[in-house]
Amino acid sequence: MAKKLKIVVLPGDGIGPEVTKVAVSVLQKACEGSGVRLDFEEELAGGCSIDRHGVPLTPEVLKKAKKADAVLLGAVGGSKWDTLPAAVRPEQALLGLRKGLGLFANLRPAKVFSALAAASSLKPEIIQGIDLLVVRELTGGIYFGKPRGIKETAAGKKGVNTEVYTTAEIERIIRAAFDAARARGKIKKVTSVDKANVLESSMLWREVATRIGQDYSDVTLEHMYVDNCAMQLVRAPKQFDVIVTSNLFGDILSDEAAMLTGSIGMLPSASLGDKKNKLGLPKGMYEPVHGSAPDIAGKGIANPLATILSCAMMARYSLGQADVAQRIEKAVEKVLDQGYRTGDIFAEGMKKVGTEEVGNLVAQAL
Ligand code: IPM
Ligand code: MG
Repeated sequence: MAKKLKIVVLPGDGIGPEVTKVAVSVLQKACEGSGVRLDFEEELAGGCSIDRHGVPLTPEVLKKAKKADAVLLGAVGGSKWDTLPAAVRPEQALLGLRKGLGLFANLRPAKVFSALAAASSLKPEIIQGIDLLVVRELTGGIYFGKPRGIKETAAGKKGVNTEVYTTAEIERIIRAAFDAARARGKIKKVTSVDKANVLESSMLWREVATRIGQDYSDVTLEHMYVDNCAMQLVRAPKQFDVIVTSNLFGDILSDEAAMLTGSIGMLPSASLGDKKNKLGLPKGMYEPVHGSAPDIAGKGIANPLATILSCAMMARYSLGQADVAQRIEKAVEKVLDQGYRTGDIFAEGMKKVGTEEVGNLVAQAL
């Protein structure tokens, strides 16, 4: 008998609802005949939740997400809510979910599909064959450190944020990166990225990374300053296998890595913590790396592939269905090889298609 699993879907704002709808149907189809049966439940998070409940994430939705076996998130945010105070912005839904679910490890793979090599702004020979993974710390660092806030002082206002990392927080993310490098089985290299020439939190980061690295004699560890890493990513991106870094550096470097592949519309992500689901696998949250793209929302033209690929990651990490994951990834590749493209990755001579059509094509190719 197939195991019944509960997936909470948070479509969010902008193009979120369009891309999650398509991705859910692909995932459902891909899981037919597998060992799991998925029960999807939609909830509000982000701007849509602010409109309805006055807050980006209600305690009820957080509770449901905690109980779920996995969470799929579309995107949150939009100019409509940009003038609200920080505490009630749509983005807080994301931060609240990450912290509330204890999702400290954010995996953002950047892989170049050969059919899309020409879509990158870099030369094809630089990017052809890129296959790297950014492991971003997600529940600590300057995003959550205290003190924070805007304070009145005698000399005027003062804005404060604090970068904080404890040994335990660094240890677990570094281990996650080494485990990922092992599981990928490629060149087995971890690049730990920091700013240890200036920041104490980075000095501790480097010290802990070095110590944990000794437990993984089969994986090479290198340290790199974040400014150099930003440069190396556009100079010679193929040198990287797994990049592990703090919340803020990871936010920035993962966008840069995403863009190497030609479009941020292609990049999936998984956020994992210590909590396990019914299958004894990590309860994760899966989401595309792109944002809510309000300018194209509701037009049916958004690229759903990042969300579809996020569902493949869900199948792999939270559903224990590596074969389903692989079938989805292969199907995406096939659709691209056949020349179908949404606007963001369109090139002369290709066939332009919309969000739903991409979903149907991927489903057919499974
Ligand atoms: C991301 C986003 C978020 C982040 C924003 C929307 C809060 O940029 O997931 O990378 O900074 O983490
Ligand atoms: Mg970001």
